[in-house]
Amino acid sequence: MTRIIAIANQKGGVGKTTTTVNLGAALLERGRRVLVVDLDPQASLTLALGLDGDSLPETIYSAMMSTVKGDEPASAPVVQPTASGLDLLPANIELSQAEFDLTREPLGIYALRDALAQFAVAYDYVLLDCPPSLGILTANALAAASEVLIPLQADYLALKGVELLLKTIGKLQKRANPALAVRGIVLTMADLRTLHAREVVEAARETFGATVPVFDAIIHLNVRLKEAPLVGQSILAYAGDSPGAHGYRALAQEID
Ligand SMILES: Nc1ncnc2c1ncn2[C@@H]1O[C@H](COP(=O)(O)OP(=O)(O)O)[C@@H](O)[C@H]1O
Ligand SMILES: [Mg+2]
Repeated sequence: MTRIIAIANQKGGVGKTTTTVNLGAALLERGRRVLVVDLDPQASLTLALGLDGDSLPETIYSAMMSTVKGDEPASAPVVQPTASGLDLLPANIELSQAEFDLTREPLGIYALRDALAQFAVAYDYVLLDCPPSLGILTANALAAASEVLIPLQADYLALKGVELLLKTIGKLQKRANPALAVRGIVLTMADLRTLHAREVVEAARETFGATVPVFDAIIHLNVRLKEAPLVGQSILAYAGDSPGAHGYRALAQEID
């Protein structure tokens, strides 16, 4: 069975895209077949993997729209191979129209689920890189996923937003996808040299640990993780022995 994991948090800059690339690469390293899907109109995932969505004829947006409209699937390939070894369903700014188009379609919330039906079977994992909002695109991801993974910046203010996300996930579970499991929270950008970060790790385990698992693996603050996308690489290829690489390998081991 293909595991489809939505990587979601409505807050921007918490490490969703970084986690999609590097968890994906760490799963590849374990011999899994992995597809990553760019659901953010900013197309950061597409760029981080070294592609320019603007030059591609088919994107996740065209795949979703042809599905809801009942058109023939696109003739040009939608899935793109990337230098990292990950297969990618790319995006470009056109995806910002989905907010408008999909909310007007009666079954718009299932566009991604139905579009993925033609691609997902070839993979062990499909990772969905969500945009920083709780709009129709994140709802599509939560309706298509078997699991959700929540990256959480190791910062007190970031803890606040998780309640709202869990509430949204709860609603989706009830009404659109009863099989959706909250796999867990992964703490990102943790500077464990500071007391603050260590306290946040504790607080996250205390606050959410009873309801939502918090992974043992912690992703440290590591500038190598910022540099890798500039050369279209995962952290494993770019700096395989860095704290960031070790963090994502440990996360992959817990998930796999
Ligand atoms: N563990 C980390 N250490 C240092 N920088 C990081 C780390 N994780 C992500 N970043 C950087 O922080 C910024 C936001 O991360 P990103 O993954 O794009 O977040 P999101 O997708 O949630 O908006 C990016 O510049 C990214 O390179
Ligand atoms: Mg992102």
